[in-house]
Amino acid sequence: MPKVLILYYSRTGNTEKMANAVAEGVRSISGLEVELTYRATAEMLHEYDALAVGTPTYHHDTTSDIKKLFEEAAVKKINLKGRVGAAFGSYGWSGEAPKLVLEIMKNRFEMNVIEPPLLIRYTPDQTGLEKCRELGRKISEKIIASKQ
Ligand SMILES: Cc1cc2nc3c(=O)[nH]c(=O)nc-3n(C[C@H](O)[C@H](O)[C@H](O)COP(=O)(O)O)c2cc1C
Repeated sequence: MPKVLILYYSRTGNTEKMANAVAEGVRSISGLEVELTYRATAEMLHEYDALAVGTPTYHHDTTSDIKKLFEEAAVKKINLKGRVGAAFGSYGWSGEAPKLVLEIMKNRFEMNVIEPPLLIRYTPDQTGLEKCRELGRKISEKIIASKQ
């Protein structure tokens, strides 16, 4: 069964709400397994068909844990070529973090990314949560299409 990893960080809960809705979207397409986590190792990334990273923007950047994870994956030559990649996150005014993550996925790891990243200002409302579910469905559909 194809597996999706949703790795996220959230200090005040906004990106967490987004992550839960992305997971709902993935689960709405049957035949996929989804795991939500705060922490991942570089080796773990290889076990999933898709990686969705949820990151808020603080000080114009993503979190140090997420940057370290990608650095570690690069050093250990973890091959993620062709895996489905997505990025999302809550922001206040500039929202660089999900863009940065998607760029790393695309350019450094040659992942099959979903563009553009999904950004929501502060707390997601019902429309925002539906956009997150839609991203989850897109992730599932992209995995299914890549296996055909
Ligand atoms: C100290 C601090 C720095 C922030 N820096 C930025 C920033 O550089 N750009 C931006 O778009 N939002 C910035 N924000 C806003 C957060 O991205 C926003 O509050 C977001 O909803 C936090 O998501 P979370 O609840 O998932 O942690 C900042 C917020 C705080 C408290």
